[in-house]
Amino acid sequence: MGLFSRKKKNKQRNKAKARASRKKNRDNLSLEEKHQIWIERWGRDTYDPPWNMHTFPDNIKSLIDGGTIPSGAGIVDIGCGTGFLSAELSAMGHPVVGFDFAEPAIVKAKQKYGEESETLSFYTADATKPMPFKGTFRVGIDRGTFHTVPFVSRYDYVKSISPLIETDGCLVILYALRIAKRLNTGKSDQTGKIFRDHLEDLFAPDFVIEKFEETGIMKHSDEDEPAFLIVMRKK
Ligand SMILES: C[S@@+](CC[C@H](N)C(=O)[O-])C[C@H]1O[C@@H](n2cnc3c(N)ncnc32)[C@H](O)[C@@H]1O
Repeated sequence: MGLFSRKKKNKQRNKAKARASRKKNRDNLSLEEKHQIWIERWGRDTYDPPWNMHTFPDNIKSLIDGGTIPSGAGIVDIGCGTGFLSAELSAMGHPVVGFDFAEPAIVKAKQKYGEESETLSFYTADATKPMPFKGTFRVGIDRGTFHTVPFVSRYDYVKSISPLIETDGCLVILYALRIAKRLNTGKSDQTGKIFRDHLEDLFAPDFVIEKFEETGIMKHSDEDEPAFLIVMRKK
């Protein structure tokens, strides 16, 4: 091997090591550390990550068209970011509560869509803690929030979110495949099964999985990111 290709190989190896270490560090962050990261991100004026919605997501539209999200159903938008989805759903006639634990996101949501109306309100709240608002909802939508919750805090998430969803209502979760893969420590391609088992372990007492399929989390700057779309029915 020539000097040039050896150098190139080393560079690639170092890059892969750095990537693995970044991933490991992210996996080990506590809820509070993640909270601070989200506060810092949403506090930036220019923060507009690739998954941030600028148009209504097709996979949620399909759930509306197919009746999984019934017309006029009350919706809680879990980890709503700056409120785009909440506001769109409210404009379609759904009463919506959006909440996020990053206060700067909620400040931006209120600036964009108003402090509070009969069909739309926003709260700063942590999905793993008791909620500061009352009421239950026919539908919960979690687009990319549960997948950022540290594994050790996931039972707390279920404990807080489950009482918000009415019996026979549903919880919709969009969860990136690349994050589901972190549950799969082996080499075999069992990610779907391992991830589904993980969800069943956590949610089984209260929910049954009704839909579990591959989809994409829409990105505005790129192709859709592969993801799982899960619909869980509340018992
Ligand atoms: C990937 S972003 C998705 C935001 C929004 N759902 C969307 O699709 O644009 C994840 C969001 O979840 C919020 N989040 C993460 N953990 C949370 C928690 N424990 N409670 C409430 N919000 C949380 C973050 O602040 C962030 O806004």
